[in-house]
Amino acid sequence: MDSQTYVNFFRRTSPYIHAHRGKTFVIALSGDAVLDANCQRLLADIALLQSLGVHIVLVHGARPQIDRRLAQSSLSSELHDHLRITGIAAMHCVKEAIGSTRLQLESELSMGLPNSPMHGAEMRVMGGNFVTAKPLGVIDGVDHLHSGEVRRIDRTGIQRQLECGAIVLLSPIGFSPTGEAFNLSYLDVATHTATAIEADKLICISSTPGICVDGALQRSLSLPAVEALLKHLPLDSQAQLERKLLSASLHACKGGVGRAHLIGFGDDGALLSELFTREGSGTLIVQDYSETLRPASIDDVGGIIDLIQPLEEAGVLVRRSRDLLETEISRFMVALHPEGFLIGCAALYPIGSSGSGEIACVATHADFLSQGTASRLLSAIEAHARNQSMDRLYVLTTQAAHWFQEQGFTATTVESLPDDKKLLYNYQRSARVLCKKI
Ligand SMILES: CC(C)(COP(=O)(O)OP(=O)(O)OC[C@H]1O[C@@H](n2cnc3c(N)ncnc32)[C@H](O)[C@@H]1OP(=O)(O)O)[C@@H](O)C(=O)NCCC(=O)NCCS
Repeated sequence: MDSQTYVNFFRRTSPYIHAHRGKTFVIALSGDAVLDANCQRLLADIALLQSLGVHIVLVHGARPQIDRRLAQSSLSSELHDHLRITGIAAMHCVKEAIGSTRLQLESELSMGLPNSPMHGAEMRVMGGNFVTAKPLGVIDGVDHLHSGEVRRIDRTGIQRQLECGAIVLLSPIGFSPTGEAFNLSYLDVATHTATAIEADKLICISSTPGICVDGALQRSLSLPAVEALLKHLPLDSQAQLERKLLSASLHACKGGVGRAHLIGFGDDGALLSELFTREGSGTLIVQDYSETLRPASIDDVGGIIDLIQPLEEAGVLVRRSRDLLETEISRFMVALHPEGFLIGCAALYPIGSSGSGEIACVATHADFLSQGTASRLLSAIEAHARNQSMDRLYVLTTQAAHWFQEQGFTATTVESLPDDKKLLYNYQRSARVLCKKI
């Protein structure tokens, strides 16, 4: 990668870095992810997130590790309706398998060799008796013995560790108030933890790269779409994993977690591309897929520059310096993606005391065109203009005259502009003038 490409890439990631800083992510790492060759790189990426100011709770699974231990002890693994039945002998294997998986993760998170991605990361990993469990009990006449479910999460204990800058590492094991240990599902632990600590995201990393429908990876799903999928998923074993991941996401989002992400460990860098690129890498599940429109603040200047710079360079929009944008930021309205980054903007400038205003700098990010973003921004700007007692809006545009006509503007002449604006008209640019009574 040449240095300019690198610089451009770095600049493009800045809105995401701002959006994620100070947020809390619960990352559920399946047991097979821990065994995968990509695990070390994945942990380095998690360390990178933490160094960018993200609070992280890492919950690991251990299903293949437990299966292996059981096989070594010549114990069979009994399942009932996809749930493991954990007898006393099996529970010994569970404790050993979970203990050694946990140690593997702790040691890998402690590696800081020069020339490794974790060099200089200095991470503190904390654990503890944060998960209180209860037995699953007898289901359909079958006693699940030491298989349990989450009863309570020590929210304050976890938050205290996060505030101290530690990564909290949770294992799929919990203890009852009587001191008995129970084998838990790591997704159950992750989901309960995410809702208990009001995490911003639940990120499930497993063998599936996301949810596919008719062979096509679904980049994002709303909660109603997740509910519909859960009703129609086939009963094969791959669908079983998808069902668990979708149920966990649904449970988390209904419990107040902003977003759930389903990504695969097989793709090196999938976590970073999911969190730091518009395209993502897996499936994003959101409570409410609608974008947000709001007045811009000084923190939006960087995002607006990223959005309009290519259009300025192409001569579509008039150039604005960062200083000018900072001074005029109160004139702008922005549209935000559910993930919190900026995808559109528009500005309204009153024209002297003419009772009219000029709409300017209407732009939508190229990845989000034709989804009604600019139309919604325009409606919001028009409402704002009416509140300020304006009765006409003008726009000067070189490329989007037809778009404005479809929004109710009609072509007019430079001469019909209010005097204050007419004096500033740039004849070289030859922009078309349109007007709308509001
Ligand atoms: C014009 C612009 C803001 C529209 O953004 P958007 O969010 O895609 O707009 P909407 O989704 O509300 O409307 C999209 C519709 O308008 C059409 N459209 C987009 N740009 C158009 C243009 N310049 N002329 C005519 N129609 C246009 C699209 O084809 C689409 O119609 P379709 O769904 O039938 O295909 C966007 O194309 C843009 O950023 N352009 C560059 C900046 C610019 O010229 N701004 C205006 C000067 S202030």
